Amino acid sequence: MFRRVKGTRDILPEEILFWRKTEETCTRIFSSYGYEEIRTPLMEEFSLFCRSLGKTTEVVKKQMFEIKRGSGHLVLRPEATASIVRAYLENRLDRKRGLAKFYYVGAMFRAERQQKGRLRQFHHLGVEAIGSNSPNLDIEIISLLNRLVKELNIEGYQIYINSLGCIKDKQVLAKILRYKITPYLDNLCADCKRRFKQNVFRILDCKKPECMRIVNKLELGTDHLCDSCKKHLESVLAGLDTLGIGYKFEPALVRGLDYYTRTIFEIKHPRLGSQDALGAGGRYDNLVAEFGGPELGAIGFALGEERLLLAQSRQPQPQEPRLVTYLITLGEEADKAGVKLLDKLREQGIASDMDYTEGRSLKGKMRRADELGVRLTVIIGEDELKKGTVTLKDMVSGKQEEVKIDEVTRRLKCYEPIRAES
Ligand code: HAM
Repeated sequence: MFRRVKGTRDILPEEILFWRKTEETCTRIFSSYGYEEIRTPLMEEFSLFCRSLGKTTEVVKKQMFEIKRGSGHLVLRPEATASIVRAYLENRLDRKRGLAKFYYVGAMFRAERQQKGRLRQFHHLGVEAIGSNSPNLDIEIISLLNRLVKELNIEGYQIYINSLGCIKDKQVLAKILRYKITPYLDNLCADCKRRFKQNVFRILDCKKPECMRIVNKLELGTDHLCDSCKKHLESVLAGLDTLGIGYKFEPALVRGLDYYTRTIFEIKHPRLGSQDALGAGGRYDNLVAEFGGPELGAIGFALGEERLLLAQSRQPQPQEPRLVTYLITLGEEADKAGVKLLDKLREQGIASDMDYTEGRSLKGKMRRADELGVRLTVIIGEDELKKGTVTLKDMVSGKQEEVKIDEVTRRLKCYEPIRAES
């Protein structure tokens, strides 16, 4: 028997309504904030992510699913921000509008070690707003994130915020970090010793207890920020206070992708265990220019859909809408008449199905109609066939009546499916 690829999941019909409900809630709210849907390919050039996420990041170094064909070097996208900036520039959207606001829903791929909440194919629900440096946009984005999570009835989450500052400030922060970490260098794990030289920010993300202990001692603050970035941060935090959005300012928060500048944030939930980030995002004010476009401020976030579902697991199970009718035919000729009637019913938008199971008795077919919870069963046997009629059985009252076959569609149009209890 074949098995699914490690780190991937089959989303079965019984779960799919949860997914759809989550996506519908998020996309409705995205639209109500003025974001428009964008869909970019699942495949991109390797260099797109190498350039934007950074070649020393874990994602680029270890987690890309690479596709090499001829001289081409493609990858399955590990995230969508870089793709959207590419699409924005390639399609000249910078010329068409001022602030461009996009949302997206889709699969991402990272070759990570599989564990609860960490998959190799997972799904993002995200937004990107390109074209403004205003702190008001940061406030909008974080309040949007907060609203989504609330609307999904997720409680007990915490939003963490920090500012990396502009590119110059990030260099200052790297210097401060190296200076503060140097006394503990011998106690860092082997990976972090390497990170100290290559990308010192990554040390703050290390989950090894010895490194976490060192990070806790660093007493980081906002000293790396220039006046303009400090003012930007203060405006963002003041705006969130005005809107009553709870957050924790966390100077040790950094992000695992290199493109970030200024505001960065993460939303965490204790129910998720070690992979506790429900979502994350921040500004990437240099990326558009880095890709050859104009200097434009930009910010976005992505929520991990699988983790959103884990965090809202106390919800009642939504139910698929049921069928209105189920056709039961007895004999070859009745089968043919049934197939024709089924097609007519469906053409009229009446949710219907038919029992194709070979050799099943009338009793067995009626049992199936019961299981499906249909409103009416349409029975065509030899007798009915001769008279050009069908027997309609009301599954709620149990009453049966004979109706001309040509009349069935008209009769059934007024019926709604039985509402499933959730
Ligand atoms: P990220 O933090 O890499 O950010 O991913 C965002 C979220 O995706 C995480 O917080 C987590 O919920 C989920 N996630 C990440 N990796 C996995 C995985 N292997 N399995 C399951 N869920 C996962 C980004 O990707 C940025 N593009 C976000 C962003 C948008 N920044 C600005 N705009």
